[in-house]
Amino acid sequence: MAEPINVVVTGAAGQIAYSLLYQLAAGSVFGPEQPINLRLLDIPPMMKVLDGVVMELQDLALPLLREILPTAEPAKAFENVAAAFLVGAMPRKEGMERKDLLAANVDIFKVQGEALDKHARKDVKVLVVGNPANTNALICSHYAPSIPKENFTAMTRLDQNRAQAAIAARIGVQVDKVKNVIIWGNHSSTQYPDVAHATVALSSGVKPVPSEINDDEWLNSTFVETIQKRGAAVIAARKMSSAMSAAKAAGDHMRDWWFGTKTGEWVSMGVVSDGSYGIPKDVVFSFPVAIKNKQYEIVQNLSISNFAKSKLDVTSKELEEERAEANNVLKK
Ligand code: NAI
Repeated sequence: MAEPINVVVTGAAGQIAYSLLYQLAAGSVFGPEQPINLRLLDIPPMMKVLDGVVMELQDLALPLLREILPTAEPAKAFENVAAAFLVGAMPRKEGMERKDLLAANVDIFKVQGEALDKHARKDVKVLVVGNPANTNALICSHYAPSIPKENFTAMTRLDQNRAQAAIAARIGVQVDKVKNVIIWGNHSSTQYPDVAHATVALSSGVKPVPSEINDDEWLNSTFVETIQKRGAAVIAARKMSSAMSAAKAAGDHMRDWWFGTKTGEWVSMGVVSDGSYGIPKDVVFSFPVAIKNKQYEIVQNLSISNFAKSKLDVTSKELEEERAEANNVLKK
């Protein structure tokens, strides 16, 4: 059996972590041969709650789970970590302006970037879940200059999973028959869920999703808006944000990064833009990526319609604005 790796989860006393930690301890993310030491970071007022989470983790009686360290100190939490799930963030409170939310989170992700820089393994894989996830990932990477910027990603996998499930339901097939749905841009209501290159496996063969659905009006409006607003719909119904599905998506994102994607298949991840598809450099933008040997590459040369281009412009503009606001906060 391999040596244990250190894995940190921030916001460890929160809702998403509660579902995520089980997947990590059970081996569903890093595989059944990889023992892990869990580092659980939360803020001081949550330490008592975190003690309860630790008790439950012990009571899972799972052999892959070795050490468990609950802490409020980033330096301890990030020590020698090979993977980091940055889930904890300042939630938006009633009456809070977007820029106030950004300001609160800039501080958190600056501290955590610095801690990663000093204490984590240089090949650490960082997944930012806490919102605004894309810009938080950018800030974090900025404060961890000794770690390659490719190692910082933001989660749009929940959006991808939602889109894939919606398409499968519309066609009337199992969800795993649908492949290569793309989420472009920001994990926000400007994201663009795109099925132009998606396929569906039917008994008659593999078909393009757009021709199988054959309803551009539905695809370009109802479908796009449903996915963009799905998070808000869950909050309206549950009175709390998506947690079980967000945790599952975080596990999916990291598992694919660790073990790779199948030939001809891709997944969506928020990654630092290299200018592909005309997207401005140096924003964390969700692209389709293919992954091999723990390295992802942005899938190139996909055709982009004028409609898609207009959607990509909107979401890149929002990310540039978020970056400018974050920079303003950092200058103060
Ligand atoms: P939650 O409120 O249940 O838990 C958040 C936890 O983070 C709390 O225990 C809090 O004390 C902790 N925390 C706050 N500041 C921290 C810091 N500086 N260091 C460590 N821990 C800190 O929230 P939940 O439901 O677990 O969601 C967490 C984040 O994930 C939110 O920002 C939410 O908006 C985001 N989210 C992102 C999704 C995505 O697709 N990217 C989907 C769903 C949620």
